[in-house]
Amino acid sequence: MCGIVGFTGKQNAAPILLEGLKKLEYRGYDSAGIAVAQDGVISVSKVSGRIANLCEKTEDGKTLPGFSGIGHTRWATHGAPTDVNAHPHMSCDGRFSVVHNGIIENYMALREELTANGYTFSSQTDTEVIVHLIEMYYHGDFKEAVMRATSRLTGSYALGVLCADCPGKIIAVREASPLILGIGVGENFFASDVTALVAYTRNALYLDDGEFAELTSESITVYDCTGAVIHKPVSRITWSIEAAEKGGYEHFMLKEIMEQPCAVKTALAPRVHENHVQLDDFSYTAEELRSIRKIVITACGSAYYAGCAGKYAIEKLCHIPVDVQLASELRYGEPQIDSDTLLIVLSQSGETADTIAAMKECQSLGARTLAIVNVVGSTIAKLADHTLYTWAGPEIAVATTKGYTTQLSVLYLFAVYAAHTMELLPEQEYVRLIGELQSIPKKIQQVLDMNTALPQLAKKYNSGHSVFYIGRNTDYAVALEGALKMKEISYIHAEAYAAGELKHGTIALIDEGQSVIALCCNSRIAEKTMNNIVEVKARGAQVLALAVKGNRAVLAQADDVIYIPDLDPLFQAVVEIVPLQLLAYYVAKENGCDIDKPKNLAKSVTVE
Ligand code: AGP
Repeated sequence: MCGIVGFTGKQNAAPILLEGLKKLEYRGYDSAGIAVAQDGVISVSKVSGRIANLCEKTEDGKTLPGFSGIGHTRWATHGAPTDVNAHPHMSCDGRFSVVHNGIIENYMALREELTANGYTFSSQTDTEVIVHLIEMYYHGDFKEAVMRATSRLTGSYALGVLCADCPGKIIAVREASPLILGIGVGENFFASDVTALVAYTRNALYLDDGEFAELTSESITVYDCTGAVIHKPVSRITWSIEAAEKGGYEHFMLKEIMEQPCAVKTALAPRVHENHVQLDDFSYTAEELRSIRKIVITACGSAYYAGCAGKYAIEKLCHIPVDVQLASELRYGEPQIDSDTLLIVLSQSGETADTIAAMKECQSLGARTLAIVNVVGSTIAKLADHTLYTWAGPEIAVATTKGYTTQLSVLYLFAVYAAHTMELLPEQEYVRLIGELQSIPKKIQQVLDMNTALPQLAKKYNSGHSVFYIGRNTDYAVALEGALKMKEISYIHAEAYAAGELKHGTIALIDEGQSVIALCCNSRIAEKTMNNIVEVKARGAQVLALAVKGNRAVLAQADDVIYIPDLDPLFQAVVEIVPLQLLAYYVAKENGCDIDKPKNLAKSVTVE
């Protein structure tokens, strides 16, 4: 998500920090900053916008002399991308400075506590609680203060901390966010990403969760979470810069597919506290929710398909009719929308022109609006009455993957939250559904781990001319997104059909060797789709089925089966899409397509 760098040595830190930050630019960011310690004082410079602005502001680092420092590229999650919200963040007494990559899940409670203890917050970030906690726990021992502060945090964090009282020393801490220490000669480094290190050293120490390190120019000491010294093996960084940017994966798309367990966890976990769903910027009362007569979901492309999949959970749990509409259609339609309508707007970028236009149209008719958006401070986020961020981190591949799964996860949270608030869910069922939601990241990981045959299956089902995706109910919604993934990156015609519709015309297209992907995951309706498999097979199709682990019957009908772990059918789509993303990816790779930048497509469609 964000990028962090740190340096301590015998030359000025600022130019090295700026160079390191430039190497992290590819990840996407909206603001940047550095802090440098010298003679018991920490100086900070930060800007919204490009690193070039930071270079200009600091005269390429010359205005911030000092031999140790930390730097940050921010991709906003909590608070708009402004100078004030940019890192590093300072303690009230100016003694500490912190950069952070990750999300602090309990920051709201900590912020209240710290405010009550007299600490003043200058930003809207979750990060700022960390630096005030360190100040609160500091009684002359830097390491002790960092340890006590981090023991109060839940969530994910890779931290770099400077202390004005300890010149030449930086502390780096890791919990569920990447952090690598670079070993130099008379200088040492840390970074969230090896790309920022390779220009200086290829000798690295990889911290594990709960570990932290003290870096000086001459030494790196690593500690476990109890403060005991531990010895880590030195690793050689062998990746080229290009491979390092993609985390060792061949394409950003594959990297982003693999990031989904973490991205979905980041979207879900901070919003579930002690078996209770809390939606940061959406707190309708039962009365307000009950006054909603209709929910309209609007979006484009994959975001629209996320809406199609999320509709089932909202209707089933909240008993409110949900109408999912393409923004490009809705904006020119005659929508029956008024103040009793809740418009849910889905967008990864928050800048899609049709979605913005549809939203404005519905707002002019009186609709209340909830945006589910990834990019903080984007147009859609600003226009909405309420916004829930998906916190997926920057998505670089044009074909969305983690954007889709995090949108869907937030829709599920909304459904459970609204149903519970309206007293439509017995307590036991509420707790069970929360448990199911919490299991999603693990189940996505299982899908990623268990389907090693996908590259081979991609070869077999790469028919070259067309692929049909069939399914019913939630399986149909997933089929729509699966087919879009195949089309946009492999340039193969792919069509999703509601399986029950086959007989009404489409089956005429099924011929010898036609590839059909049959989605049979939803236990309520899977058997019906399995009957459709028999029909298409009888006409010569080769069928790859998706089914829930344990469904042995499907083996007798399909040519090949991909299994996914069991999950409540209401939430299955978010797991079920993952093998289809991989299938599209491997087919595109097989066909030599430009996977991250498919032809004719842009990441953000800001024109009509
Ligand atoms: C999906 O892979 C596409 N890149 C595209 O359909 C995308 O989902 C659509 O353009 C909507 O974008 P948004 O989420 O940024 O609004």
